Amino acid sequence: MLKKCLFPAAGYGTRFLPATKSMPKEMMPIVSKPLIEYGVEEALEGGMADICIVTGRGKRSLEDHFDSNFELEHQIAGTSKEELLTDIRTLIDSCTFSYTRQREMKGLGHAILSGKTLVGDQPFGVVLADDLCINEDGTGVLAQMAALYKQFRCSIVAVMEVPEDEVHKYGVIAGQNISDDIIRVENMVEKPTADKAPSNLAIIGRYILTPDIFELIEKTEPGKGGEIQITDALMKQAQQGCVLAYKFKGKRFDCGSIEGFIEATNYCYEKNHTS
Ligand code: G1P
Repeated sequence: MLKKCLFPAAGYGTRFLPATKSMPKEMMPIVSKPLIEYGVEEALEGGMADICIVTGRGKRSLEDHFDSNFELEHQIAGTSKEELLTDIRTLIDSCTFSYTRQREMKGLGHAILSGKTLVGDQPFGVVLADDLCINEDGTGVLAQMAALYKQFRCSIVAVMEVPEDEVHKYGVIAGQNISDDIIRVENMVEKPTADKAPSNLAIIGRYILTPDIFELIEKTEPGKGGEIQITDALMKQAQQGCVLAYKFKGKRFDCGSIEGFIEATNYCYEKNHTS
């Protein structure tokens, strides 16, 4: 039912300069796998094999990553190195990849709207690749949300509790509990100060959106930071119909920050390379 997953990936990644001067931040590796590859794996696990990527200038290596590299592959064919490409080859064979460019950075809402031409008139997932989500004990976060979508058929945002002094970094929601981990959203504010935050439940970079969101984004005026915010469009959707917030199971690393990136690196290294 959910086939497409959109990856807004046009941002500059200024917090990682100079690394991101000519390399997309989504290509930063956690151990030896780029962030975007983790995201695509998670989308595929959630049943979304049509990968739609919103890129920008200087982001061509994203396209190259999800393609063959004949020269390299010829060079290492038959050697022990070849197995290092097994996972990415399987991923490429299992998905389709489409790209569009966002020419101006006008916020996450604008980035998602830029993907309209790739997504069309159907519900879709959204992954912000610099939020790395890992659920060792079971299904990935997007797969959890896809299961919820089947039941409720409305937009869903993934949320987690954050300390009060961090709410200003996130979209923050409040609403009525439907169950222990599902909330019907009644309020949603983009990056509030601690005293204006409706709760400490922060949106992280996983969304399921119904296609009417595009029209709502088109009607959304620039908000926080002068940017077109998906949070504002979702608030309208919540007022007109229904938006759910879901307290996902698993860990989330903020790989858009140096601390979160190092934490994720250590975690993945410990998990896969030590015994
Ligand atoms: C974006 C969204 C914000 C959300 C966050 C999750 O902010 O605007 O609502 O909480 O992603 O990572 P950004 O981190 O791009 O500034």
